[in-house]
Amino acid sequence: MSNIDENKLHQGEPEIDELTKDRYLGGHEYDGIRELDNKLPRWWVYLFFVTIIFAVVYLLGYHVIKSESVKKLFPLQEAEYTNDSIAIAKLRGANPEPTVDLATMVPLTATTDLAAGEATYKKICFACHGPQGQGLVGPNFTDQYWIYGDTLTKTVSIQNLYQVVITGVIAKGMISYKDQLSPVQIQQVLSFILSLQGTNPPNPKPHQGVKYEKIG
Ligand code: HEC
Repeated sequence: MSNIDENKLHQGEPEIDELTKDRYLGGHEYDGIRELDNKLPRWWVYLFFVTIIFAVVYLLGYHVIKSESVKKLFPLQEAEYTNDSIAIAKLRGANPEPTVDLATMVPLTATTDLAAGEATYKKICFACHGPQGQGLVGPNFTDQYWIYGDTLTKTVSIQNLYQVVITGVIAKGMISYKDQLSPVQIQQVLSFILSLQGTNPPNPKPHQGVKYEKIG
């Protein structure tokens, strides 16, 4: 904008401050205080234009243009939620929750599984079965005696113990962990428990149940 144009805007000759030679903005004065007609800094003006362009794009993108391709670029909250739900469903499909087959289940031996089992044990089971599996309210896991073994085949299997954890022994104070632990977590914690065999911790609880030489 040229000087002449600006002068016209302020109707006639601009008043100039004697001391600084700056122009006054005409029209108002309060208690002798007047406003100078300073030029806005360039960066500020450009930023202002950017906000205007942003507002137009935002309005058109989110609220005016209804075409599918534009909606994809500017999804509203509801659309974002749907998109995320679809993405999560896809992820779940690619990494399904590991399942266990009870019929063929064997104790796990990988250190990561045993560590996960130990973590569950130390969170839930230790309170009744003792920190080292030596038994407290619940039976000792470090000896060869089991209450819920299979007397017919003379073995105690992870399946036998799985059943105890799934149904619980309410009369004796152990609840069912069916809803708290996933099948894999139960398999892991039982694998950890079975790995305690023969560890001889101090103050073991006396044997309960029947002696089983074999773990199957
Ligand atoms: C509130 C106490 C309590 C908690 C907690 C508890 N149990 Fe038990 N558990 C018992 C009792 C008591 C028995 C013995 C039941 C009986 O005498 O019939 C038992 C028995 C068992 C048996 C059968 C042992 C055998 O000799 O056949 C297994 C396996 C077992 N618990 C696993 C677990 C696991 C795994 C956890 C943790 C997820 C757990 N328990 C948490 C009290 C508990």
